[in-house]
Amino acid sequence: MARTSDIEKAAGVLRAGGLVAFPTETVYGLGANAEDPAAVGRVFQVKGRPPSHPLIVHIGGAEHLGDWVEDVPATARLLAEHFWPGPLTLVLRRGRRVPLEATGGLETVAVRVPDHPVALALLSAFGGGVAAPSANRFGSVSPTTANHVRAELGDAVDFVLDGGPCEVGVESTIVDATGEAPSVLRPGGVTREDLEAVLECPLAVHSTSRVRVPGQHPSHYAPRARVVLVEPEKVVAEAELAQELGHQVGVLLPPSFADAAVKAHAVVAVPGSMAAYARGLYGFLRELDQRGCDLIVASLPVEEGLGLAIANRLRRAAGPRR
Ligand code: TXA
Ligand code: MG
Repeated sequence: MARTSDIEKAAGVLRAGGLVAFPTETVYGLGANAEDPAAVGRVFQVKGRPPSHPLIVHIGGAEHLGDWVEDVPATARLLAEHFWPGPLTLVLRRGRRVPLEATGGLETVAVRVPDHPVALALLSAFGGGVAAPSANRFGSVSPTTANHVRAELGDAVDFVLDGGPCEVGVESTIVDATGEAPSVLRPGGVTREDLEAVLECPLAVHSTSRVRVPGQHPSHYAPRARVVLVEPEKVVAEAELAQELGHQVGVLLPPSFADAAVKAHAVVAVPGSMAAYARGLYGFLRELDQRGCDLIVASLPVEEGLGLAIANRLRRAAGPRR
């Protein structure tokens, strides 16, 4: 776990224009001073991410929101007060303080307050906003431990803060709160049901849109192995067939088939609780890669609660590769 001296050191790295990987409750972020265009530019370079894909600005508390956006509509205020700190990102009109480099040239900016003691300590010590995407290479699986970050980005990061494994395991829910009717741009750690309960109205979800949001490619969150999605009751047969055909098959075995003996290269039994599945998802995909699988057979969970975010990530992991 990060010590106070680590936090101070990390804040110094940010002030000097460097990059700090830090834990949040969702996934690890690759952070830079949001107001330093050169530092933000390095984030894109290290990730191999196109400059048009906007970053999320992380701030230390809802009370600072007005410093980073042009206007805080009542709905945005309500959501911030209710869900921050937490896995919710609000897209609002860009404040002048935010350079266009951080927003991919957009006149909107994504902002969130992460719910992790190390992230909050870093933001407090630094005193500004930290622009951070997930700390992985463009298109690949997000990191949920400090070791994932070190393995993937190594020396390209100036400092890695270790805050242990991430509790939520999938990224934040992104809500477009610029207009009258908010909509979900990316399902994530705050469920649609929780948002609707607070808003007292149904919410549109654009989780499969390919053009609306820069950075939401059909292929994303992808392990090295190809991912194939089938109905839960077909997972075992599909995996065994592919294994017989010569693939090194990794299986994400649905909970209702947890007792099945599967002839495959590697099998991960998926937890029955959606919270545990979300927490483990990226680690499972990394593990199957590491064990040498070239094909992963999985099925989608029921798309409610956290199941919506898990299904979104699995679909993208299975999407056509660039
Ligand atoms: O949980 C998370 O959100 C993690 C942690 C580190 O906070 N961050 C994360 O960042 O997932 P990233 O860069 O991997 O995904 C952020 C996504 C972008 O791909 C983009 O689709 C969306 O946020 N985004 C950012 N700014 C936006 C904007 N102004 N308008 C619409 N979408 C935006
Ligand atoms: Mg990402």
